[in-house]
Amino acid sequence: MRPELQAVIFDLDGVVTDTAEYHYLAWKALGESIGVPFTREFNEELKGVSRMDSLNKILALGGKENSYSDEEKLELAKQKNDHYVELIKQVTPDDVLPGIRELIADIHAKGLKIGLASVSKNAFAVMDSLQLRDSFDTIVDAAKIRNSKPDPEIFLKAAEQLGVDPAACLGIEDAAAGVTSIKGAGMFAVGVGDSMTLAEADIVYASTAELSLDQLLVQYQGTAVEQV
Ligand code: BG6
Ligand code: MG
Repeated sequence: MRPELQAVIFDLDGVVTDTAEYHYLAWKALGESIGVPFTREFNEELKGVSRMDSLNKILALGGKENSYSDEEKLELAKQKNDHYVELIKQVTPDDVLPGIRELIADIHAKGLKIGLASVSKNAFAVMDSLQLRDSFDTIVDAAKIRNSKPDPEIFLKAAEQLGVDPAACLGIEDAAAGVTSIKGAGMFAVGVGDSMTLAEADIVYASTAELSLDQLLVQYQGTAVEQV
């Protein structure tokens, strides 16, 4: 059996708010500008992945991995980020996804800790726009993470900052790379989205509106710790 649950660790983009859509729109525009259009299906591979890793995946898709110098790649990544930063200017506290504020309140009421594990360097700005920063006990600084999801580093860092055993944590993700990161950290993984895409998760819900702490606790307690 798992130890008693101590903390819930959230991904940001696509879980707390729908900024995953803004990342998609900004990458899509960048891809088209360099002759690499892509589908929403391909976009699933970019979710949860760092800015430069995402750019490299897009370039590889278009067979352009050797077409740009490191300096030019930094400029392309900057173009995408400038566009994304414009798009997130419209984020307000009304943009917290359905069910998330209630879930956060229930987590606090149960005396559990709450963390944020996003590889986005814009995470603090988005959390401020949502007025959610004070609701979290810790937010991992993506600038201090060496390895992007799917590596477990960021979820392990969140547990460390919270001072809890990773096995006593539950992580919530909308990205396949994020679920892999949670599982690699030895945590219980909750996916939000498509059950095929997130097949590695311990449980998948179609939307955040379906997340309930009571149900999550039942699911969490019913699983054994896996060796990682
Ligand atoms: C993740 C998103 O949260 O952050 C990815 O799912 C994004 O799509 C990554 O590429 C990095 O974000 P940023 O804001 O630092 O470019
Ligand atoms: Mg996400």
